[in-house]
This record gives sequence, C-alpha cells and structure tokens, in this order.
Amino acid sequence: MKLCLIGTGYVGLVSGACFSDLGNDVICVDRDINKINNLKKSIVPIYEPGLEELVLRNYKNGKLKFSTNLKESVSKSDIVFICVGTPTKKNGSGTDLSQVYNVAKEIRKSISKFKIIITKSTVPVTTGDEIEKIISQKKSKKLFSIVSNPEFLREGEAIRDFNYPDRVVIGTNDKKSNTILKNLYSPLISKGAKYINTSRRAAELIKYASNAFLATKITFINEISNLCEKINVNVEDISIGMGLDKRIGSRFLRAGPAYGGSCFPKDTKAIITTADKFKVNLSIIKSVIKSNEERSSLLLKKVFHILNGKIKNKKITFLGVTFKANTDDMRDSSSLSMIPSLSKKGAKINYYDPTGEKKEFTKFKNVNFSKNIKSAINDSDLIIIHTEWNDFKSINFKKEVSNKNFKIFDMRNIYSLTKMKEQKIKYFSIGS
Ligand code: UDX
Repeated sequence: MKLCLIGTGYVGLVSGACFSDLGNDVICVDRDINKINNLKKSIVPIYEPGLEELVLRNYKNGKLKFSTNLKESVSKSDIVFICVGTPTKKNGSGTDLSQVYNVAKEIRKSISKFKIIITKSTVPVTTGDEIEKIISQKKSKKLFSIVSNPEFLREGEAIRDFNYPDRVVIGTNDKKSNTILKNLYSPLISKGAKYINTSRRAAELIKYASNAFLATKITFINEISNLCEKINVNVEDISIGMGLDKRIGSRFLRAGPAYGGSCFPKDTKAIITTADKFKVNLSIIKSVIKSNEERSSLLLKKVFHILNGKIKNKKITFLGVTFKANTDDMRDSSSLSMIPSLSKKGAKINYYDPTGEKKEFTKFKNVNFSKNIKSAINDSDLIIIHTEWNDFKSINFKKEVSNKNFKIFDMRNIYSLTKMKEQKIKYFSIGS
C-alpha cells in the first residue's frame, strides 16, 4: 500500500520505517529540511535501538522515502498518517493541536481521490470530529475518511512493540476504511495481534485511558512501597504476589522513582482536561498526578535520611538520568528535579548516562558528567541508581569505589538485598 506519514518524530519515524519493512511504499514527510536531509543519509535524530538499521535498509531498497513536500507526498498516497507533535499548551492546560489542524488544512489541498486520513499522534477525544469538519469545508465527505489509530509504542522497545502489538485499534464507522486498514495490519494480526474496530471517539479515548491506567498502576505500587518501608516488608514480594493474580498482571508493577517520559505525564493531564470539558471529575487520575509529582521530594527526603541529613559537599553520583533505560529522552525525568535540588543544597554531583552528557545540567556548577561508570562512582559518598540500564546491573562496587564508606540508593531495585548484605555494602532500595 502507498502510505504517507506526516511528522518524523518518534511516532512517525518508527511507524514509517516499520510499515516500509512490511513491504509498503512509505513516504515520511517533515517540514524540517535538515532532518529530512539527514534521514536520507540514514542519520536518525532519536535514540531507538534498531531504528537506524531499519531506516538504512528500507531507504536503500526504495521502500522508504523522505520528503519535505507534503502536497506531492499526500497526492501519491492512499493512506495518510498524521504524526505531528501534540504538546501540552504553554499555559499548562489542554493540548496544543495547532500542528494537527495545520497539517489537516495542508492535506485538504491535495485530496482529489479517496484517502484515509489517520490520527496516530495522541489526540484528545473529538479531535477526529474537528479534522473532519476542517476537511469537509472544502472537500466532499465521499473523498476522505478520518480514522483514529493510536500507537502504543514504548521508547526503547518501539520496533518490537510495532511488530508484536497486543492490539491494533482502529476507530472508524466507515466499513471501507476498516477493511483496508485490517489488510494493512494483516502481517501483525497473523502473528497474534488482536484487531479491534471501534468508534473514532472510543479509539481516541482508549489511548488516554490505557496510559492513565498504567500511570495509576505504577503510582499504586509506588505508594504501597512507601508503606512497605514503614512495616519492614519488601515491595518486590508484594509485586510478585499481586502480579501472579491474572486479573492484576505483573507488568508495570515495579516501584521506582516518579514516572516520566513524553506520554504518561502529558496524557494524564490531557484526559483530565477532556473530562473537565464534559464536566466529569476523574478524581483517581487527579490523585495519581499529585502523588507522582510529590514522589521526587519524597525520595529526596530518603536521600537526606541516608546521608544523615548532611548533604553539603557530599559526593553524589547518579547512574542514569533519562526517564527510563534504552532511551536518551530526558522529558519529565525525575532526575530533572532531583539533581538541581541536591546541587542547591551543596552536594557535588557526578552523573553517568550511556546516552551521554545532558544539556539540562550544564548550567549547574557542581554537576559534572563522567565519561564512564568507574570514574563516576570512584570516590562517591552515595551512588544513586536512577535508571535501570543493563550497564548498571553487575557493577563490582567493592572493587570500583575507593571511598570505603560509600552507600548505594538503588531506585530501581536492581540488586539483591541479601547479596548486598553479604558484601556488607550500605545498600538502600525502594520499598524495603
Ligand atoms: C508509554 C506507554 O507504555 C506506551 O504504550 C505509549 O505509547 C507511550 O507511553 P514510554 O513513555 O516509552 O511508553 O515508557 P514506559 O515504558 O511506559 O515507562 C513510562 C514510565 O513509567 C517510566 O518513567 C518508567 O520508568 C516508569 N515505570 C514503568 C515504572 O516506574 N514502573 C514500571 O513497572 C513500569
């Protein structure tokens, strides 16, 4: 099939590369000429394992093309995916849909035969209705169909998630579009993905409700971990014990720092704005947001406690600063509030991240990037394992750290409590 994906951010680029790998003819469009020129040289602007190889292979075999010409690319395609950014508005409430609506107006100019236009960006409920209104102002409704097809890709696992999704959600009442899209996704359906066809508004809401639920699950176990710390119980046992109940499930039940990333913080706020519009109070999600926002200061209190209230001139190392492993993404990472706060209190911070130095910390005098794990932890008073990179899972701390009184605060519960005790390492984890 002939596909056009508008926006070469995370969603558009991963989906475009994966669709081309399934044998479709794909054009990825972006207005940023530098980005497009780089992509033509297989220089990928985001860190995502396996993506560069996929782009290179499919660009070389001609299945994947890159262009800045939206009009021409849309004209040549049967299915158009809108994958542009949908950030939170500058005033903090609601989603800024200006890029989506501008693209809709551009697409409108190039419709001369039937096209399926899909929102793949996460858009609030009723956005599809608005796009339909915009396009039908100038084109007959017979010439297009607006469909919602949300993506559920996780950063760092996006290619696997694309190829082996739990479900493909298609929101449309139009039978013709449904048949075409079921066909487009048939290689994934035949590998076991469930295909569901819902109304467009339902598909839009499935995305928000799913992310809000996952954020709730994480926040739930984070709060349970707070209780575990008071009653001398290990939260890891609770996660296993709860997760074995198939109605609950073990995934997204790992206690840790506040959740971050480009989706959970944004989508939980956006679903509340939508509900407010319809005068519905989503009180659970509101408390999830509050609890998550308070989590970083709660964990900082634990840092003070571990260091017996003495932060000034303490050498504190952060292992990993991104919001999770296998990504270079710093958006809403809890390190963004923790590091400046500790630095203000006079701590000397070293950090190491496998994805390199972060511009977010360059303005802080006493925050330094170390080029490897060894130099980052060597003379630390406290090592904070902030992100669960594989690189941090088998460090011989006794050998690598010269300061014999070092302590570890493992915010991802990577290491075994028993083994740490055996080695006589002063080890603190989450929820134990
Ligand atoms: C998420 C959704 O999972 C994905 O379906 C959607 O399309 C985009 O948003 P992503 O933001 O890439 O994906 O990260 P995810 O793996 O979901 O993790 C989000 C946050 O939750 C991270 O900060 C992570 O560390 C945290 N998390 C996750 C936990 O603290 N505990 C867990 O058990 C799982």
